[in-house]
Amino acid sequence: QNEKVALFIIFGGSGDLARRKLYPSLFRLYQKGYLDQHFAVIGTARRPWTDDYYHQIVTDSLSDLQATDEQVAAFASHFYYQSHDVTNSEHYVVLENLAKKLDQQYELQSNRLYYMAMSPNFFGTIAKHLKSEQILTADGFNRLIIEKPFGHDYNSAEELNEQIRASFAEDQIYRIDHYLGKEMVQNISAIRFGNNIIESLWNNRYIDNIQITLSEALGVEERAGYYETAGAMRDMVQNHISQIATLLAMEPPVSFSATDIRDEKIKVLHSLHIDTPEEARRNFVRGQYGPATVDGARLEGYREAEQVASDSNVETYVAGKMEFENYRWAGVPFYVRTGKRLAKKATRVDVVFKQLPMNIFNAVSDEDKLGDNVLTIYVEPTEGFGLRVNAKKLGQGFATRPVDLDFRHSAAAAGNSPEAYERLLLDALNGDSTNFTHWNELSQTWKFADVVEKVWAENEPTDFPNYRSGSMGPAAANELLARDGRHWIFDP
Ligand code: BG6
Repeated sequence: QNEKVALFIIFGGSGDLARRKLYPSLFRLYQKGYLDQHFAVIGTARRPWTDDYYHQIVTDSLSDLQATDEQVAAFASHFYYQSHDVTNSEHYVVLENLAKKLDQQYELQSNRLYYMAMSPNFFGTIAKHLKSEQILTADGFNRLIIEKPFGHDYNSAEELNEQIRASFAEDQIYRIDHYLGKEMVQNISAIRFGNNIIESLWNNRYIDNIQITLSEALGVEERAGYYETAGAMRDMVQNHISQIATLLAMEPPVSFSATDIRDEKIKVLHSLHIDTPEEARRNFVRGQYGPATVDGARLEGYREAEQVASDSNVETYVAGKMEFENYRWAGVPFYVRTGKRLAKKATRVDVVFKQLPMNIFNAVSDEDKLGDNVLTIYVEPTEGFGLRVNAKKLGQGFATRPVDLDFRHSAAAAGNSPEAYERLLLDALNGDSTNFTHWNELSQTWKFADVVEKVWAENEPTDFPNYRSGSMGPAAANELLARDGRHWIFDP
């Protein structure tokens, strides 16, 4: 029997994340039988809602999913709303009474999952109260799932970490990076460690450079308030991009278990080169999108968005170079980039292999040069991978041309692949922390990001906005690679 038994307490139960991601993901777990009779959810937030109103919110959040009304109603009946001020100790007493009652009613074996899905300012306070007000149970499991942003820089992240570690042990803490829940991000390990022809070439003798692109077509939309305090470096590079780079760079783990994988991730991050200020200035490019007219419609620039300062210097684009200084990777740059309002939503990794020592096919023009061998891992919107190899051009004479061996999941298979949050919630229910981030990983990626942030803060950009909505970012991002004699493989 696959049924999981637990009480979820969601801090931020009225929020956007809960509605867009958590409720639909819990429902999918319910449809698949992972959640059945023995689960309950307490949603908390400040506003006073009734359970009926809350059920409606949960029901509405499922409107895109295929389900019968009875199924949705049965699922929603497991949800309870508790108006809660996270700074008020007495409110935790009320919360505990409800939790205890539900524990008995649904026979939850004192298993509890606390989900922090609200403003990060309160993460520390909540963790503290969960312990001091004795919400943590003695006989079941207690697991804390914590959303990003995990700090604003190294110091604030460390402070937050100390606050939550005062109530929870490291193995009870599940720090979310939802990219680690994506099918094709997990597939990086399968491709690397399941294929001799890949893993045997996976080093600086055969790989020239690795490119990680997380490009988004949307602007900051309604999240400008938060975004103004973050920027692309904190929003995407310190976490998602660094995690992908880590999975690409780590050594093969002894076994495919959470602890062995974690050890390797931490170890390789230890070799991540922390730039000097001078290097950071050279190795990183920032950008901000300006307005544009696309198909007759005007798209506003970042500075025009609501809640954004009209002279904001927050970056909506970053491109940069990461380097792992170890035996396997010395000399191989990892070029990374991400941005809002770019040409396309595309998440992918391009692994560019070194050229052969010579082209024996008598290249006479540039066109006849051997193309680069490239392994592409497509994460989104399609899932799959491609391998670019050179083959003979049809016809007389002997010229080569690149051909793409492509594997994409069929739409049907993609439909079966669980959404990142669904996967991660089930992992947390199972006590499997493989796809969550350890403090030792975050501390290193914050140190890395801090240097760049510091250099940027000291030198306000003078050219913002510097890229058009719908383009692939500022020209300087191309120059970053051109300087090294390289170019971005993905150039829509
Ligand atoms: C989030 C960022 O972590 O990831 C957002 O805060 C970004 O700014 C989002 O849009 C992208 O995630 P996905 O899964 O849509 O690629």
